[in-house]
Amino acid sequence: MKKLSPASKWLIVAGARPNFMKIAPLIHAIRESNARNARISPVIVHTGQHYDKVLSQIFFDDLGIPEPDFNLGIGSGSHAEQTGRIMIAFEQVALAQNPDLVVVAGDVNSTIACALVAAKLSIPVAHIEAGLRSFDKTMPEEINRILTDRISDFLFTPSRDADENLRKEGIAAEKIFFVGNIMVDSLMLIMKHIHKSRILSMLGKILDHHTGYAMITLHRPSNVDDKRTLEQVLGCIKELSRDMPMLFPVHPRTAKQINDFGLGRNITWLDADYHIMRGQNASNIYGLPPLGYLDFVTLMARAKVIFTDSGGIQEESTVLGIPCITLRENTERPVTVTEGTNTITGNDPEKITGAFIRAISPGEKSIRSIPALWDGKTAPRIVEILASKYFSAQS
Ligand code: UD1
Repeated sequence: MKKLSPASKWLIVAGARPNFMKIAPLIHAIRESNARNARISPVIVHTGQHYDKVLSQIFFDDLGIPEPDFNLGIGSGSHAEQTGRIMIAFEQVALAQNPDLVVVAGDVNSTIACALVAAKLSIPVAHIEAGLRSFDKTMPEEINRILTDRISDFLFTPSRDADENLRKEGIAAEKIFFVGNIMVDSLMLIMKHIHKSRILSMLGKILDHHTGYAMITLHRPSNVDDKRTLEQVLGCIKELSRDMPMLFPVHPRTAKQINDFGLGRNITWLDADYHIMRGQNASNIYGLPPLGYLDFVTLMARAKVIFTDSGGIQEESTVLGIPCITLRENTERPVTVTEGTNTITGNDPEKITGAFIRAISPGEKSIRSIPALWDGKTAPRIVEILASKYFSAQS
């Protein structure tokens, strides 16, 4: 077995909810690799882009991620403020730590901010989930993806279409590594633990007399920042909820917009113990606080259908074989449509309704195929590729 010499230090960056399930498997894979002789020192940097317990700490707990070595405590702000503050704070950490590598994941503001700092300090950058493109530059994440990929040295892609996107943008083939979808590593890990979740029994009173339920997640600016759009989406889903209760863990951004726009009447709100709040029975849409990963996956795994504008949920539902209705005009994850269970409807009520009716029709085949290398072994593949770059020639 080859030995690492000298020990290499990797700064692993996470900032927002969808990052945590992407770095957890990597940290576990580094530990396993170290147990087999590698000498990698992972240093976890949490930018603090997400700071609420329900968007952050609960994922560290559910996924067994060690406490971050650094928490930059950045918090919310406009895109420029948030990105700029992350860059300034991360530069200090990168200078003091002098790592061999910076690893970033996904497409959030923390991803581009830290990649840019590292690139300017001539520290190699590894990007996990590289190459995804919605071809929609009105999405802040699309800009983050394009720029992060442009300055990364190791581009780890989840699907072949991502390789193709990178090649078309002129990225050298030797920087691109098709390794599969790292989120699936986390999903497979948590699926072994869903028997520990109490969420189904806590929601028992609401779900008991129904044969099934649907789930909703919404947080994209394109759905929640405009009153008329949000009202139309909630109105449509409220109609559909007559057939089936809908569980809606509400992102803080969406909760604020629903409140500011006076649209709360569409939703029956549950408290932190999942009891219906006094005087509430507005509809069969049940608004709950954001959920941790264990509880969320437990509910998703049994849902009849899921409405979402998230990226990761399109992928998770494909693996779980749950029909997914994506309330966006496009997706950067086309394999979830061509191979998986995903239907893109935008926020047009007619299209949403049609997709819902098809999804709940008896005989509708939900499990299609699981994309290549979405097999729960992506993180070890990444660690092996990266470690080999830092191995000395000695055996
Ligand atoms: C961010 C990511 C998005 C990802 C999403 C998952 C970017 C550009 N967007 O969007 O890609 O899908 O995370 O959640 O990076 N807030 C809280 N508590 C928190 C964090 C945020 O209340 O812990 C509220 C604040 O009002 C904040 C708003 O949510 O202004 C938006 O947070 P922000 O991190 O800017 O973007 P998200 O919408 O969460």
